[in-house]
Amino acid sequence: MKEISENEGTVESVAKMILKSKYLVAFTGAGISTESGISDFRGKDGIWTRKDKGLPPKQGKHFDEAEPNTAHLALLTLQELGILKFLISQNVDNLHLKSGILPELLTELHGNYSIMKCLDCDARYKKSEIGWDCDEHGRGFRTEPSQENEPKCPKCNGRIISSIVNFNDSMPEKEMLLSREHSLKCDLMLVIGSSLSVNPAAFFPRMAHDNGAEIVIINIDSTKMDKLADTRIYEKAGVFMEQVVQRIKKFKVI
Ligand code: APR
Ligand code: ZN
Repeated sequence: MKEISENEGTVESVAKMILKSKYLVAFTGAGISTESGISDFRGKDGIWTRKDKGLPPKQGKHFDEAEPNTAHLALLTLQELGILKFLISQNVDNLHLKSGILPELLTELHGNYSIMKCLDCDARYKKSEIGWDCDEHGRGFRTEPSQENEPKCPKCNGRIISSIVNFNDSMPEKEMLLSREHSLKCDLMLVIGSSLSVNPAAFFPRMAHDNGAEIVIINIDSTKMDKLADTRIYEKAGVFMEQVVQRIKKFKVI
């Protein structure tokens, strides 16, 4: 039985915090995509949770088949209303871009499965754009040997690899700088579907908090930073965020 925490929020209270905010930033993790059929890592049925029990990952949807859910679409609405100023995501499933979130208002800290990058000039390319075929060329991870016939960078002929950041890979510099900039600018951060267990990504909600921003954590299970939260929501992100945006639309009478 979950104990009711004193900072537990409601649709109404979170909608009011969002409307009052001057610079709202959202920070998302794998939990925002479970309602799209993609497993998370440390939730009750997560990939690492099951692995620790000696179980294989739950059969989820492949990224190609998954569609954005109501939580992704709620963030898009907040962006379209001019309320959500920036989005920092740890997810590689491409669902924020697929939902219509503007690429220039998003950082994907751990990369994006559908995007390749040049090791030499850091140019980014959609797999389809440069003819990268995983069946023929493999996953393109930096730690794997390059293939004879794999596509090269059209700009500088450098080696192309997956943009996904694996453990022990260095973090993408541009994304880290942008995430830091917006974490320090925000006065409210919505942290949605992350256990906040992995650094340096989890530094950003802490950075925002230490810089005086209010923190709302929307997460079914407890997280490593629940104590930082001004408001804590234990609901499913898709259900809760859809209600919040409906409430905001009523307040704004649009
Ligand atoms: N609504 C709200 N919370 C949810 C939902 C949901 N529908 N589904 C799952 N959650 C919560 C889980 O309770 C869990 O605490 O989302 C959280 C997801 O946490 P993780 O699985 O640890 O995912 P994340 O925080 O994104 O992991 C960070 O770890 O393995 C690496 O690179 C990987 O980017 C990933 C990083
Ligand atoms: Zn290049």
